[in-house]
Amino acid sequence: MTTRLIFPDGFEWGTATSAYQIEGAAGLDGRTPSIWDDFCARPGAIHDGSSGAVAIDHYHRYAQDIATIAGLGLTRYRFSISWSRAVRPDGAANPAGLDFYSRLVDTMLAQGIRPWVTLYHWDLPSHLVGGWTARDTAVRFAEYAEIVHDRLGDRVETWTTLNEPWCSAFLGHGSGEHAPGRQDPGEALTAAHHLLLGHGLAVQALRARGAREVGITLNFSPVVAADPTRAEDLDVARRVDGLANRFFVQPLLHGAYPADVVTDAAGLWPGAAVRDGDLATIAAPIDVLGVNYYSTWAVRAPGEGDVGESRPGASPHVTAPEAVAVQRALPRTSMGWEVDPDGLYGLLTRLQRDYTGPAGVPLYITENGAAYEDDQVVGGVVQDHDRIEYLRAHLAAAHRAIADGVDLRGYFLWSVIDNFEWAHGYGRRFGLFRVDAELARHPKLSAGWYRQVATTGSVDPEPASAKMGS
Ligand code: FCB
Repeated sequence: MTTRLIFPDGFEWGTATSAYQIEGAAGLDGRTPSIWDDFCARPGAIHDGSSGAVAIDHYHRYAQDIATIAGLGLTRYRFSISWSRAVRPDGAANPAGLDFYSRLVDTMLAQGIRPWVTLYHWDLPSHLVGGWTARDTAVRFAEYAEIVHDRLGDRVETWTTLNEPWCSAFLGHGSGEHAPGRQDPGEALTAAHHLLLGHGLAVQALRARGAREVGITLNFSPVVAADPTRAEDLDVARRVDGLANRFFVQPLLHGAYPADVVTDAAGLWPGAAVRDGDLATIAAPIDVLGVNYYSTWAVRAPGEGDVGESRPGASPHVTAPEAVAVQRALPRTSMGWEVDPDGLYGLLTRLQRDYTGPAGVPLYITENGAAYEDDQVVGGVVQDHDRIEYLRAHLAAAHRAIADGVDLRGYFLWSVIDNFEWAHGYGRRFGLFRVDAELARHPKLSAGWYRQVATTGSVDPEPASAKMGS
């Protein structure tokens, strides 16, 4: 009999979603289109031709969904606000849209769940001319943050400005896989800078309004060289790591863009966009850093005979076109992403050592989870042993990081209910609950499993199969 790994007292257990992926009600109560509505309308942009117009109808079913989260024994819920629902095109508050979030927050609080607001999870209002390539969008973002804080600040303690600016900038403006579907690497760098600037301006605005806990969520993809004895592979790994990871965390916590990234970008570096004082704004102190971790990238330098890059589900090519993604001998999720819990351990210890530890900033895992086929169903219940094992292994890695001194305070599972997975549409399922054709929610095996984890604050050190064999 193995002893369970016990998380520290006060460790917070939650789940995460985002507005466009769950809400639906795209045209209700004064919501105006976002760049994701526009992108979904483009033929071929979304693999199954779907959109978030109805999504899982959370806008109407929110009370039931919050009860579901409470039923899992969770005390925190991270959700995002739809900017174009909260604010009108003329910049004024949209009371009907804000009322929805106010009801949502009240419903959570009544059930003992503390809200964690993400202000920007990719659904930029379409009417903002130039989007994130325009500096003005950063200013408008801070104004929007104030409007939301004015309505919810009496009840919400934790505020995340941006979710995964790498995706907004590099998938949105580099590879074009995400809205607004642009393919221009120089533009991607400009957008990345404006996103970070918007973050800094919003931090200042939220602080001035008295917000208690303010931070940002970054997606980190640890990068390893396929052959660590080959200088060329190590160099490609450094370049990919530079744009995927250090590009964001370094200005936020050290107040400067990584010198090697600036040098490598050469003619593409958006020097003119980076004005005096911007980096000081971006480096405004934060109270929490959100970490989204799903997978690690293994890369190598191109060799003879390589025709373009191969990309088994990862996107290193977006940050360094010369990178070739390599498949290691690791299991994969249905996203094609490697299952690498050690990557999470390495990431957390690196962040603690190089970035957040010296600044005294605590870490939260604001997203972690896995998509699987969910095709084993017994008595109507999806038998998602693969998802359970993914989650268990990553929580064990997080536990090990805490034991080794990482100031990790909580875990938000992505996600509670299957939802609209961006360019993949509804074909990739991350939820603890599946959704049927009538949009009814049904618990998978993992729902009961996560409930036990959250209510006991502990996780098995070993896979269930290992235990059965012992
Ligand atoms: C993250 C996103 C989230 C979800 C997961 C699977 O990059 O933040 O919305 O799509 O991936």
